[in-house]
Amino acid sequence: MKKVLFVASESVPFIKTGGLADVVGSLPKSFDKNEIDCRVIIPKYKCMDGKFLENLEYVTHFYMDLNWRSQYVGVFRTVCDGVTVYMIDNEYYFSGPKPYGDICYDLEKFAFFSRAALSILPVIDFRPDIIHCHDWQTGLIPVYLKDCFAQSDFYRGIKSIMTIHNLKFQGIWDVNTMKDIAGLADSYFTIDKLKHGKDGNYLKGGIVYADYVTTVSNTYAEEIKTPFFGEGLDGLMRARSNCLRGIVNGIDYDEYNPETDKYIEKNYNIDTFRKEKVKNKRALQQELGLEVNDRKFMIGLVSRLTDQKGLDLINCVMDEICAEDVQFVVLGTGEERYENMFRHYAWKYGGRVSANIYYSEAMSHKIYASCDAFLMPSLFEPCGLSQLMSLRYGTVPIVRETGGLKDTVEPYNEYDSTGTGFSFANYNAHEMLGIINYAKSVYYNKKREWNKIIDRGMAKDFSWKTSAKEYENLYSQILGW
Ligand code: ADP
Ligand code: GLC
Repeated sequence: MKKVLFVASESVPFIKTGGLADVVGSLPKSFDKNEIDCRVIIPKYKCMDGKFLENLEYVTHFYMDLNWRSQYVGVFRTVCDGVTVYMIDNEYYFSGPKPYGDICYDLEKFAFFSRAALSILPVIDFRPDIIHCHDWQTGLIPVYLKDCFAQSDFYRGIKSIMTIHNLKFQGIWDVNTMKDIAGLADSYFTIDKLKHGKDGNYLKGGIVYADYVTTVSNTYAEEIKTPFFGEGLDGLMRARSNCLRGIVNGIDYDEYNPETDKYIEKNYNIDTFRKEKVKNKRALQQELGLEVNDRKFMIGLVSRLTDQKGLDLINCVMDEICAEDVQFVVLGTGEERYENMFRHYAWKYGGRVSANIYYSEAMSHKIYASCDAFLMPSLFEPCGLSQLMSLRYGTVPIVRETGGLKDTVEPYNEYDSTGTGFSFANYNAHEMLGIINYAKSVYYNKKREWNKIIDRGMAKDFSWKTSAKEYENLYSQILGW
C-alpha cells in the first residue's frame, strides 16, 4: 500500500476559489483504496463554512520554529468521502476573510503552512511515501524536504511531486524578506535554485527540488516550455522536461451529474436531454429576469474574472455577441473592471444579458444545466474544469485552442459529423465572434446536428477514472514499486 499525502491551499467542500479546490477534493477519493492511502492537508481557514468547522476533531497542538519565530500549530482532522483530511490551525495566519490576500503576508502564511504540514507528520503518525504538492503555496515543501528535514530518519527518502495548476502564480518576493520568512540559507538563493531575477520564488524552488513535476494537461505541459506561456520559467521547464508530464484533470462525476443534481430544476441524461434540458433554461430565464423563450440561444460563462479568461475578447465584440437572438448569462467575481464591464452590458441589454457578480455553487450548476453553449475564450488555460462540466451537462463549449481546452474539446466538423464543441485558434476577438456565430447558426438551422454534438459530448468520460490511474502509475514509477 502506497501512502500519499496531498498538501494544498484549498479543497472542496471546505474552501474553494477555483479549480485547484475541485481537483484536491475529488482526485484523492478516486484512487484505488487497496493500492493507495491518500490523505490531505489544508489550512483551517476561519472563513470556511461553520458547518465544517464545527465538525472537526481536535488532534493535537505544538509550537514550531519558523526561522526566528515560534508559532502555534494546531492539528484538526475530519473524514470526507472516505478521505482523511487534516487541517492546520493558526489564527494569526488563517483568520482572514479569504484564503489569499496581500502577497507578502501570504508568503509567510504558506511558508508556515508548508513547514507545519511536514512537522505534523510524526505527530499524526503518517509517513507518506510521496508528498504531492499543489501550486506555489506548497513550493517550499520539496525544498524543506531536502533541507532541514532530510537529517531525520523519518523524512529521509520521502519523494515529492509538484503539480502546477497555474504557472502564472509563483510566490515571488525579494530575497531578503523570503530568507527571513522561510529560514533558508543563502545558498538556496542562487539562480539555479530559488532565485528568479533579483527575487526569490517559491514555485521555482518546488520545481527545482521536486522529484517529479506535473501539470494538468498535455498541451499546457508543452506550452510552458515556451516563453509565451512559461512566465519566465520556460528555461527551467525545458531543463526538467525529463521529469515533467501533463495529466489532464477530471471532474467529480457524482457532484456534477445532471441526472441527480439537486440544484437544478429538472434532471436529465443523455437519453432525455432533448426534452428535459430546456426546462432548466426556462426556469433560469425566469429566475434571472431574462425573456422566457425556449428558442433563444443562451450562452453561459462561469469564471474567475481575470485576464487569463480572455474577457477582453468578449469586451471587444460584446455588442455583436448580444444580438436579438442571443442571451448571455455570466457568473463570476474578480477584477473590478470585468465585474463592471458585465454589469454595464446587463444594464445595456436588459432581458438579454444577466450579470451575476457573486460566487454561488448552486447558480453555477444551474448555468451548466440551462445554457445551450458555454464560452471559455481563455488566453491560457492549464486545464479548465468548466468546459468539462459543460460537456457533462450537454452544454456545448466554445473555447480557444489552448492548454486543457485544446485537449478536451474536439472541434465540430460538419463534413464528417464529429466533435463535441467549437474552438478557435488565435487570441482575436473577431475570430471568436466568427466561431460564436457559426455555433449559433448550427443551433438555429441544424438542430439535429446540434443535438448530436451534445450526444457526443455527454458520451465522453471526463471522470477521474483514467487520470487517477495515470497518477497511480506515476507514483509507482517514482517509487520503483
Ligand atoms: P480556474 O481554476 O482557473 O478558476 P477552472 O475551470 O479549472 O478554472 O475551475 C473553475 C471552478 O470554479 C469551476 O468549478 C467553476 O464552476 C467554479 N467557479 C468559478 N467562478 C465561480 C462562481 N462565481 N460561482 C461558482 N463557481 C464558480
Ligand atoms: C488552475 C487553472 C485551471 C485548472 C485548475 C485545476 O486554476 O487555471 O485551468 O483547471 O487550476 O487544475
